[in-house]
Amino acid sequence: MTSNIDTLMKRGADFLGCESAIMCGAMSWVSERNLVSAISNAGGFGVIACGAMTTELLDTEITETKKLTDKPFGVNLITMHPDLFDLIAVCAKHKVSHVVLAGGLPPKGSLEAIKEMGAKVIAFAPALALAKKFIRSGVDALVIEGMEAGGHIGPVSTSVLAQEILPEIADKIPVFVAGGIAKGSAIAAYLEMGAAGVQLGTRFVCAHESIAHPDFKKAFIRGNARDAVASVQIDPRLPVIPVRALKNKGTEEFTAKQREVANLLDEGKVDMNEAQLEIEHFWAGALRKAVIDGDVENGSIMAGQSVGMVKAEESVADIIATLRSETQAAIA
Ligand SMILES: Cc1cc2nc3c(=O)[nH]c(=O)nc-3n(C[C@H](O)[C@H](O)[C@H](O)COP(=O)(O)O)c2cc1C
Repeated sequence: MTSNIDTLMKRGADFLGCESAIMCGAMSWVSERNLVSAISNAGGFGVIACGAMTTELLDTEITETKKLTDKPFGVNLITMHPDLFDLIAVCAKHKVSHVVLAGGLPPKGSLEAIKEMGAKVIAFAPALALAKKFIRSGVDALVIEGMEAGGHIGPVSTSVLAQEILPEIADKIPVFVAGGIAKGSAIAAYLEMGAAGVQLGTRFVCAHESIAHPDFKKAFIRGNARDAVASVQIDPRLPVIPVRALKNKGTEEFTAKQREVANLLDEGKVDMNEAQLEIEHFWAGALRKAVIDGDVENGSIMAGQSVGMVKAEESVADIIATLRSETQAAIA
């Protein structure tokens, strides 16, 4: 007999082609072959973070991930990547089943290009109006991600997005809820509100299979919810997408970086697009410093508020098993 959790997750799991509708959201530098394959092998859905990768690097990463799992996994592409269409072609070459588009409105023709290759498109909807627009343009599923999340964030909390968007959208296409989820009680609540599944990032960073530096993981295990703060915009002319990360020296360096880029903008040395790319390159570099080099003082320790519930290094299989049993208990 199917248990309740499987009934509630069925739509999302069928859509993703996995057992549990639990996605591990793409995390730049962290979501590479090892973590992604471990998630998919454990019955969840792993997503490769393409981030600022070149087409060659993405090609290699997909090839290597496929060697570690025969289960489906997705690829997360950032819409402002200058080689977006070439990256889509790499996904097409590998017959990637799901492409997650992050970082703003997809440029003209990109949705069509992904659908043409036969993949499903998942997009982030930061507001109800956008969710409806995405549905009209043929997106297959949505992630609604609240500001509790780690990494780049929108202004609205997960609980509000879920109340606003799920009743209107959940019967049309699958919606996955993200941001601030670390326990099955929250998963059960969102499933019961109509979510097809959930997406977690922070909770998986300290998995044994995650290649994040031991010092990055230690910072997570030590961190409390209130340490995961959103970056502040210092110049109204330079709209930067806020990033949630653990407070450190790197947080302050971002303020200096914004000043530097705002000056370049003033002097006409860069346009707004270039200014925003410059900011994104800063984050990619700062995150690499912390995740790969373990420089948790100067690098960016992107983490969601749920970091306070990450208590130890565990295997992906154990994390998913715990989430499942907590969800089941909450439903019962
Ligand atoms: C270290 C880190 C890096 C991230 N990088 C990306 C990314 O490259 N692309 C993306 O779409 N989301 C990124 N995210 C967001 C996650 O995919 C996921 O949606 C988020 O972590 C969910 O919220 P949670 O952290 O509260 O679980 C990142 C999150 C973290 C913690």
